Amino acid sequence: MLIEKPVTGSTNDDARALALGGAPHGTAVLARAQEAGRGRAGRSFLSPVGGLYLSVVLRPILPPARWGILSLAFAVETVEALREAGFDARVKWPNDVMIQGRKLAGILAESRAGPDPFVIAGIGMNVDRVPEGLPDATSLADCGAPPTVPQLAARLQAGFVARLARLEKEGPEPTLAALRGACVTLGKKVAWENKEGVAIDVAEDGALVVRDDAGRRHAVLAGDVKLL
Ligand code: BTN
Repeated sequence: MLIEKPVTGSTNDDARALALGGAPHGTAVLARAQEAGRGRAGRSFLSPVGGLYLSVVLRPILPPARWGILSLAFAVETVEALREAGFDARVKWPNDVMIQGRKLAGILAESRAGPDPFVIAGIGMNVDRVPEGLPDATSLADCGAPPTVPQLAARLQAGFVARLARLEKEGPEPTLAALRGACVTLGKKVAWENKEGVAIDVAEDGALVVRDDAGRRHAVLAGDVKLL
């Protein structure tokens, strides 16, 4: 089921309320604007009309200890959906989808473990235009003729469900392999927490593996990594 709203607070909040009310695996909320869109690390996410704001309720069989890869897995799925539509999209670790070096979309996976666990896979994408004040962002319209929002939302809804099923059936390796081929961060010099190094891989738990100048490997799990 895909519930469509012209405007809402946050589709992730709507999806969470649906999940708490027992909504089945795959239920999704699509809004054309959000008044309280949330991004990673507690930031707000500008969500004017002209974008796609989608959240999908997922009820994983995968144990919570293996959920660390999920937001990257949804980013990989988004890249595959965009490539099918003719766009040369890539992933920027940990949760951005990029075209031509500019941010097109962001993923926010939120979860609740415990007796009735669920994950909310949220995506916000610039479709018709870039929100004001984001000079480093792009939109599908800027990169070619965009598919319609309902068409893309249905593809992403089905894709997130299928990606989770694939992780559960085949393990993380196929998703990691696709990610390694599509991740702009790998091979680049990065800085995090006053340290620098080269991003060399992504681990099974979603951590960015970085080798510093002394050859030490670090697993960077959260926080901001800056491309140098
Ligand atoms: C980021 O770039 O930091 C992640 C942004 C995620 C935004 C999406 S829009 C749909 C869903 N609802 C929200 O409030 N956030 C996510």
